[in-house]
Amino acid sequence: KKRVAVLISGRGSNMSALVEAAKHADYPAEIVAVIANKADAGGLEVAHLEGIPAIAIPHRDYASKSEHEAAVCAALVEAKADIVCLAGYMRIISPEFVAQWEGKMLNIHPSLLPLFKGLHTHEQALEAGVRVHGCTVHFVTAGMDDGPIIAQTAVPVKTGDTPDMLAKRVLSVEHETYTRALALVAQGKAVMKDGRTVFSD
Ligand code: GAR
Repeated sequence: KKRVAVLISGRGSNMSALVEAAKHADYPAEIVAVIANKADAGGLEVAHLEGIPAIAIPHRDYASKSEHEAAVCAALVEAKADIVCLAGYMRIISPEFVAQWEGKMLNIHPSLLPLFKGLHTHEQALEAGVRVHGCTVHFVTAGMDDGPIIAQTAVPVKTGDTPDMLAKRVLSVEHETYTRALALVAQGKAVMKDGRTVFSD
């Protein structure tokens, strides 16, 4: 099984979904560490209750971004992580950090990329007037929300939707999408090669 560390900033519902999936004997990954950049991230407690080593490495405790990332990197090495999953991790990762984990770092973004990068994706979708929206799991590259796509799920936009209503509908498919994408990567069935995802059976 591949050893997976999950980086979070908040409630960690995607992290919880990965933890649940990894409880199945035939799931190809195990969650070995949860790291938050905020001491009050709700997901830390959830992970702790599951018996998973869960630590806060608050970016505010470090003088620079590179020192914070060095601390996170040290924790990932300590956990012997093979794969890193960003799950609501609201920090931009430096190109140096990304390079160290090339092809081994995944992110979930709440839109159908390449549409609506960055923040407030549900507002962006409503503003654009699209009739389908969704989520994307992709390999992390130096460009924000820009890496090769591993899995996507679409949901309808409905009349009268608010950003919150849309966010809930998207979140309801994020968990399954991330679980599926991580399994593909952990099994070597989705591999990043020359800036593309190469799939095999
Ligand atoms: C999720 O909707 C995730 O897609 C989004 O944050 C939420 C985290 O929820 N990620 C981003 O916006 C990344 N820029 P969770 O903590 O319950 O998994």
